[in-house]
Amino acid sequence: MPLDNAPARFINRQSRKVYTLTTLTATHAVLTRVTDRKVVRVKLAQFREKYTTESNGTTAADAPSKRKKSDEPTGILVPWEQCPLREAVHVNARIAAEVAAGFSLALNAQQLFEHWGHSAFTGKCAINFYGPPGTGKTMMAGAQARVIEKPLYQVDYASVISKYVGDTAKHIKQAFATATELGAVLFFDEADSLLSRRIGSCDNDAAFATSVNQNRNVLMQEMDRFEGVVIFSTNLVENYDPAIMRRIMRHVQFSLPGSAERAAIFADNLGRHAVGVDVNRLVDMSAGLSGSDIATAVVNAFAACSSGPRTTWVLSTASVEAEVIAVQSSRRANSQD
Ligand SMILES: Nc1ncnc2c1ncn2[C@@H]1O[C@H](COP(=O)(O)OP(=O)(O)OP(=O)(O)O)[C@@H](O)[C@H]1O
Ligand SMILES: [Mg+2]
Repeated sequence: MPLDNAPARFINRQSRKVYTLTTLTATHAVLTRVTDRKVVRVKLAQFREKYTTESNGTTAADAPSKRKKSDEPTGILVPWEQCPLREAVHVNARIAAEVAAGFSLALNAQQLFEHWGHSAFTGKCAINFYGPPGTGKTMMAGAQARVIEKPLYQVDYASVISKYVGDTAKHIKQAFATATELGAVLFFDEADSLLSRRIGSCDNDAAFATSVNQNRNVLMQEMDRFEGVVIFSTNLVENYDPAIMRRIMRHVQFSLPGSAERAAIFADNLGRHAVGVDVNRLVDMSAGLSGSDIATAVVNAFAACSSGPRTTWVLSTASVEAEVIAVQSSRRANSQD
């Protein structure tokens, strides 16, 4: 039996009416009533006091109702229905297989445990996506949350990292607690900023080093305790602290798209406007570009072909080619810096 795959549901502690979470911003939660789709907007400060995830209203979610004022949100929650479809992320067969194997720990924990009899199969899973920018790591994190039908709690570093000693560690704990409460996949995008190597005692600023090391230690403790799915993503995996590396079950290296993936990314981005565009030609000339570069080139081509009366707007192969060339030259200029 798979793990609990139900989308996050919240129960009003007073009325006992059941809601699904539509959006969570830094200040408000937007909920939709299951029975009649009525939408309510609740201040985040009151959200956990008024709503619980448990049907008897007496468990895990009760404790946070006594949250201190200082407990600001540490991330953004994306409902799984709003995450990208897995089919929209075009990666080669190796990446697809590694991602699927990594997430089978979350998806098939029960069967894995029953079959192999190994206590590691609890549904707990930590996975790291690394590789060049714009290759679909963030997109894949959302897509996997969608596959397991859990919301994605994307940690916001601006809210987590504090100049006050001790606060960052508290915020890290809070991010894990929030993901636990909401039954969400916890996502640390650009994770190297938080997971980089601990600082040795020879460093000049001892107080700074202590604080940074304390943050790493708290992160490791929280990873050990966390029972859910945590995803990290980075361009700079070599900066990760080795002790954190060993707590991550699987590392998946993302790479620039091959010709089959580029064709699919062009096709998705061009949509119905692909008619009359020579996609094969674009695929041949775009080796070395990332998925993100291709998406940018197509959007720029749409914009470039949108002058004059709307009835005359037509996308041509030449206009997309021109934008692909423009992205390539900006990449070259950037790599010479
Ligand atoms: N593999 C892909 N399949 C489909 N679209 C892609 C892919 N990679 C990138 N894109 C497009 O580029 C955009 C940015 O991709 P994404 O943010 O997932 O890249 P990333 O690997 O997380 O980059 P970074 O390392 O800079 O954070 C996506 O929203 C999508 O439009
Ligand atoms: Mg990213």
